[in-house]
Amino acid sequence: MQLDQKNVLLGISGGIAAYKTPDLVRKFKATGANVRVVMTDSATEFVSKLALQAVSGNKVSHTMLDEDAEAGMGHIELARWADVFVVAPATANTIAKLAYGLADDLLTTLALATKAPIAIAPAMNQQMWAAPATLTNIDILKSRGVFQIGPGAGEQACGDVGYGRMLEPIEIVEAIASKEFTSTYFEVNEAPILSGLNVMITAGPTREALDPVRYITNHSSGKMGYALATAAKKLGASVTLVSGPVNLKQPDGVNTIQIQSAQDMLDVCLSKVEGQDIFIACAAVADFRLSDIPQHKVKKKEGEDGLTLTFEKNPDILKTVASLDNPPFTLGFAAETQDVEKYATDKLTRKKLNMIAANDVSSSELGFNSDRNALTVITHEKSVKLAPDSKDSLAVELLKLLEQEYRLHKQ
Ligand code: C5P
Repeated sequence: MQLDQKNVLLGISGGIAAYKTPDLVRKFKATGANVRVVMTDSATEFVSKLALQAVSGNKVSHTMLDEDAEAGMGHIELARWADVFVVAPATANTIAKLAYGLADDLLTTLALATKAPIAIAPAMNQQMWAAPATLTNIDILKSRGVFQIGPGAGEQACGDVGYGRMLEPIEIVEAIASKEFTSTYFEVNEAPILSGLNVMITAGPTREALDPVRYITNHSSGKMGYALATAAKKLGASVTLVSGPVNLKQPDGVNTIQIQSAQDMLDVCLSKVEGQDIFIACAAVADFRLSDIPQHKVKKKEGEDGLTLTFEKNPDILKTVASLDNPPFTLGFAAETQDVEKYATDKLTRKKLNMIAANDVSSSELGFNSDRNALTVITHEKSVKLAPDSKDSLAVELLKLLEQEYRLHKQ
């Protein structure tokens, strides 16, 4: 997991290894991650809330019934905020509670309320670690995709020697950073609802040439389109991704076609659209392109202080696909800074779409270039809000809604 800009929720339970957690927070922060901390009652006996607040830069959550905390980031919001939930140290007691789904404190409640992958760094006396009950609980957690980090062996605080030491903070951070998490979440949680369907997705920006060495483009990172392609593949679809220039890894098992301009994107989409069941237009296509692209690099000229360029409209890829004789089921996106729903509904009708997902890009926390987003999904019959979440999780939620609408549409 790339930790830069990711939201790490650190759950600290009450073992002596909790004294290492301020360093663990610092090591996570050094990767560029945002860190929030939740502690059990007994953890507060081993390490101070104040220290963790200082190193994380965020208020530390501790009890369920804290009015102040709930007025700030409430527990459900915190569960949604997390991209990964790391429980370190994870005591035998907390491991048992996680295995059986108890929710009698804030830490274990968050573990049930989050969709984020969970990692645990066990820490306990070697005999407690070797106890059949603990080992069974670990097996239960692992069967649900929980990622186990350690424990290591060595001398323990109680004087015993054996397995049960929490790994060092740097080892925990490296273990999380080297793990690809989304797949475990899918394997455990999601049915292949798109199995047998062909899905085409456009993603990223387009690049419109100004001359052989220059171009105009926009801030689209392609993250939402790539998250949708990854999710659609894992939900069983056969996926074609038509992508503008982005800095993202090609999703595994997805037929990815790289393009530069809007015209290239349209050409590829039209050449591959036959047989597609669903078309998702997530790309931020440039609205205009230069009318005549000079064959040679444009030069500065003596005595000329400005440059005037003439643009013409680019083709609307989504509208073109939605207007085909036998169009696939279409989902468009609307990125707006004001009157988000009004403009989205207008686009749904004007472009003859089946669904549109509207995101508000006026907040820098969400949308363009961010790993997180929030969407209002509008069909001709209803409007559904998907709360702020990682683009990976939102992609799954959006595809579940899409699948329901697609089946209704086919009836
Ligand atoms: O009209 P607007 O650009 O706001 O519409 C956004 C939606 O239309 C997005 O789904 C986008 O991918 C798609 N679009 C397109 N071709 C264009 C412009 C937008 O496919 N030229």
